Amino acid sequence: MMKRGKKNPDAGDPLSNSDTRAGSSELNGMKPSMSSMKSMGILLAVLMVASVMFSLSVVLRDPPSDAVVETHAASRLLQISLHPGVDSDDGLSEKKEQLGDINHVSSFDKESCLSRYEGGLYRKESPFKQSSYLDYRLQKYEDLHRRCGPFTRSYNLTLDKLKSGDRSDGGVSGCIYVIWLNSNGELGNTMLSLASAFLYALLTNRVLLVEPGVDMADLFCEPFPNTSWFLPLEFPLKSWFNEQSLLRETGNPMLAYRHVVRDSSDLQKLFFCEESQVLLEETPWLIMKADSFFLPSLFSISSFKKELEKLFPEKERAFYFLGQYLFHPTNVVWGLITRYYRTYLAKADKRI
Ligand SMILES: *[C@@H]1O[C@H](CO)[C@@H](O)[C@H](O)[C@H]1NC(C)=O
Ligand SMILES: *[C@@H]1O[C@H](CO)[C@@H](O)[C@H](O)[C@H]1NC(C)=O
Repeated sequence: MMKRGKKNPDAGDPLSNSDTRAGSSELNGMKPSMSSMKSMGILLAVLMVASVMFSLSVVLRDPPSDAVVETHAASRLLQISLHPGVDSDDGLSEKKEQLGDINHVSSFDKESCLSRYEGGLYRKESPFKQSSYLDYRLQKYEDLHRRCGPFTRSYNLTLDKLKSGDRSDGGVSGCIYVIWLNSNGELGNTMLSLASAFLYALLTNRVLLVEPGVDMADLFCEPFPNTSWFLPLEFPLKSWFNEQSLLRETGNPMLAYRHVVRDSSDLQKLFFCEESQVLLEETPWLIMKADSFFLPSLFSISSFKKELEKLFPEKERAFYFLGQYLFHPTNVVWGLITRYYRTYLAKADKRI
């Protein structure tokens, strides 16, 4: 831990150092809630314009060992991409008519999350289409999440098992979970980590539950229809989750805890080897703390390879598609983003 901390302070413990990071932009220094919404607005405005670039192809083609460097590189890319400017918004009104055919939107209430419908208007049309297999898997995932989501019968059953620590007839509910812990760090890292966790859930047929943290619910709409991805407040996280004791051993066969960091320490790498994954298969509740972009490392797990190739024929696009699928700013944030767009970006000459 200490060694890693020195080499890469950001990945060590974002809970304690995210606020004191030196040389950070206004994005980091702000307190959550409105100000982080504002920074989210700016970030996402940039994201929209640069969504093609934000495929992180650079990162995947030549993965550096340090996830924080990746994120900084990504945001630098974004900043650079901002300067050449974007198209005038002439096309906007015409495009409004084509809104009908956006994926996965029909089950949602439009008013509750405008960005899900309008986001496409602000993006340059992408030449890349997600594979039909990815469409299919996302659909399947949504079904799974609806069946296993918070307060469903299956969820209640599996939670009872956790409370009793009883593994007998463990698989009755058919639902296993990965709980992503919010480290309340920098927004960019949070999104990268969360998208990675979602892909992990997809690959392992787990249901992703997100610890809301201070502002997740204010920033992002629910991505899956007719269910919630937020871990219920009632979940006995606090009583189970004393990180120190979890790190040692929970003693509960229903639960495992992993701190996933992409770095060079052998302990962390263990998560990405075949044997660890096999061990985890039997554990219904996996609590995961991940503060970095570990998605590329999933490509190194041999049992995932075939599936990943089918999901992402071009693996550089993995984050691009997952990010677009998962992250829809809430209406408040969307208001900030569109205002920012109209003020600063709409008149630009070129969109990239
Ligand atoms: C979600 O709920 C709405 C209204 O309750 C319903 O019309 C819609 O069919 C549901 N969608 C799915 C996929 O279950
Ligand atoms: C699951 O448990 C919650 C409270 O613990 C309860 O409100 C809910 O109705 C239960 N769900 C089902 C399907 O029984």
